[in-house]
Amino acid sequence: MEHFRYGWILAGACLLLALSATGRAAETGEDACIACHQKVSPGQVADWRASKHSGEDVGCAMCHGEKHMTAQDHKLAELPDEKLCAECHEEQFSQFVKGKHNLGWSSMMAMPVTHLEPDELIEGSRGCGGCHNMGVKSKAQKEKQLELGYRYQNNSCDECHTRHAFSKREALNPRACQQCHMGFDHPQWEMWSSSKHGTRTLVKQAKDLPEGANAPKCQTCHMPDGSHNNHTAWGFLGVRLPFPEDAQWKQDRITILKALGVLHPKTGEPTALLDAVKTLDLARLTQEAWQTERDKMLQTCSQCHSKAYAQHQLRMGDDMLRQADRLMAQGIEIVAGLYQEGIIPKPESYPYNYPNLLFFMRTGGGDLNKLSHIDQILLKMYLKHRMRTFQGFFHINPDYAYWYGWAAMAEDLGKIQETARLMRATHAKGK
Ligand code: HEC
Ligand code: HEC
Ligand code: HEC
Ligand code: HEC
Ligand code: HEC
Ligand code: HEC
Ligand code: HEC
Ligand code: HEC
Repeated sequence: MEHFRYGWILAGACLLLALSATGRAAETGEDACIACHQKVSPGQVADWRASKHSGEDVGCAMCHGEKHMTAQDHKLAELPDEKLCAECHEEQFSQFVKGKHNLGWSSMMAMPVTHLEPDELIEGSRGCGGCHNMGVKSKAQKEKQLELGYRYQNNSCDECHTRHAFSKREALNPRACQQCHMGFDHPQWEMWSSSKHGTRTLVKQAKDLPEGANAPKCQTCHMPDGSHNNHTAWGFLGVRLPFPEDAQWKQDRITILKALGVLHPKTGEPTALLDAVKTLDLARLTQEAWQTERDKMLQTCSQCHSKAYAQHQLRMGDDMLRQADRLMAQGIEIVAGLYQEGIIPKPESYPYNYPNLLFFMRTGGGDLNKLSHIDQILLKMYLKHRMRTFQGFFHINPDYAYWYGWAAMAEDLGKIQETARLMRATHAKGK
């Protein structure tokens, strides 16, 4: 395919050269795209000219086909997916499909809440879909997208080295990760950039550190050796199997998994959702899988720190997660009590009569008039503050780990206790 395309373009280029001698260059082939798009969208053409592709005969038609040639038929232009890039970049593609980014679209779609939100915030590349356009889409996923009237977002290889410059240097800059790894529930950009690791990187960029000085950026730790296969030990949800040996932590972990809907709240048996967790690699499910990622990370730290030092730092991170889980489980159990007593009615779309962390801020299960305040506090405790506690710790950020993380969790638990008391009192009066 690659050779076919190359050959085709080369033949086209020769033909065009011959044609341009007769002054008819703009009628067919690659030059026609450029000549017209120079007027229609000059910024794109300039970007492409600045890319390595332009010097390598990888032109507009190579990626978009030749069916569209006039201002009226632009819908005939192909919008290429990752497989087109793979024709020439097999190595990066095969790493990428083994990594976590390849599951971005599918894991978003697996969330019940996704289907309650406006399409513009999903397929329309803002909101959830703006960051989760990561991963090769299946045929069914593409068809769904078209059916809803969304034609773009077919490619995730342009998320870090953006089109049409497709620049490696851009992707190596930590700014390339910022749009998605920021904000409410995963502020890695904010945590890293104000940590010593980030400060050093930024100071070095400003040339205020000697050339040889070290500074790790996102890519150093998460794409070592330029690998497009990204994974961490704990991942986003901060859960894993097997259960911890510590009895209290194990109990707390079970409570959290119930609230995630992975274990049945009554029986403690795995639910159908556990299969999704497996398929979507939402957590490392064996000690080996977890340890492999941890060892890789330690290897990276050891480029600049002693191994013992790095091990100590990461072990403390694990321990913070244990302590955060203690607060979290207490919060869940209080709210679960209100469900059991019938003080909070089970929202229709909830699978069980139990708090569910996967409905995010939509605790009424789609009905915005039925939001329960205490559920909202619980969701923020999990998604915002528990995340900050351990993510901030791992990204060496004192303020995120304490004030925005741990301290905020303690505040949430206080609010949950107080609100539950008030709800019980009001409920008793109403009877
Ligand atoms: C005669 C002018 C002309 C020529 C020649 C031309 N285009 Fe276009 N192209 C357009 C116009 C006009 C649009 C629509 C712009 C808009 O929507 O504002 C467009 C849109 C596109 C789109 C976006 C399609 C979409 O669905 O949004 C792509 C991709 C594209 N052109 C690629 C090419 C390629 C590749 C070639 C050469 C094979 C080419 N164009 C030749 C005028 C041209
Ligand atoms: C290496 C492959 C590649 C090359 C070369 C390439 N494009 Fe694209 N182009 C893409 C990808 C990927 C998208 C995004 C597709 C999507 O969102 O589904 C895109 C999207 C577009 C769009 C629609 C989105 C927008 O921002 O307007 C236009 C128009 C377009 N390209 C024009 C061009 C033109 C003109 C050239 C030549 C100067 C060119 N492309 C060269 C890969 C390429
Ligand atoms: C027909 C072959 C071909 C296709 C298709 C292709 N590329 Fe390339 N790409 C190349 C060549 C050749 C280079 C230059 C390699 C070099 O200089 O080492 C390159 C370079 C790159 C680079 C490195 C640029 C730099 O700054 O060093 C990136 C990133 C890249 N391509 C991304 C993509 C993406 C994303 C797609 C799909 C949208 C794609 N390519 C499609 C052939 C292709
Ligand atoms: C600002 C970009 C952004 C937005 C908006 C966003 N996400 Fe995410 N999402 C991410 C990133 C980045 C991660 C990985 C974070 C981490 O590992 O710390 C993630 C992780 C996830 C995960 C967990 C994947 C895993 O393997 O653990 C799910 C599920 C998810 N998001 C669903 C959603 C849904 C549903 C929405 C909308 C309600 C949404 N996201 C909105 C960027 C975003
Ligand atoms: C999460 C961000 C990200 C995504 C998504 C991404 N890349 Fe990259 N890409 C990078 C980074 C960072 C580098 C530089 C790696 C290095 O050299 O250390 C890079 C480098 C490249 C290069 C240049 C390799 C070289 O050494 O010359 C190619 C080609 C490339 N990527 C293709 C792809 C393709 C194809 C996809 C989609 C399957 C893709 N990338 C998706 C971040 C990304
Ligand atoms: C010095 C190395 C280092 C740097 C630099 C770094 N991270 Fe991390 N990152 C880690 C460690 C360690 C973990 C936790 C690994 C584990 O689960 O054991 C982690 C975890 C993550 C996770 C999973 C969820 C979480 O936060 O625990 C994401 C996503 C992530 N980092 C993204 C980023 C982004 C984006 C940047 C740059 C803005 C960045 N990281 C900078 C070391 C680093
Ligand atoms: C377009 C948005 C986007 C960009 C840009 C992006 N990411 Fe991600 N990243 C995500 C999403 C979404 C996920 C969660 C994927 C899933 O659902 O499994 C994720 C997951 C990750 C994870 C895996 C965490 C885990 O669960 O183990 C790491 C590590 C990571 N990204 C690092 C990076 C780095 C480093 C960069 C920049 C070079 C980057 N990302 C750029 C959206 C993005
Ligand atoms: C590319 C080099 C590099 C890598 C890789 C790296 N660090 Fe660092 N780290 C530094 C530098 C430089 C500093 C700031 C100077 C200092 O305190 O040693 C620093 C600071 C720290 C600090 C704060 C020290 C203090 O006294 O405030 C901790 C903790 C830390 N790193 C842990 C880690 C961990 C854990 C990893 C792996 C996940 C890691 N580092 C990876 C270079 C690196």
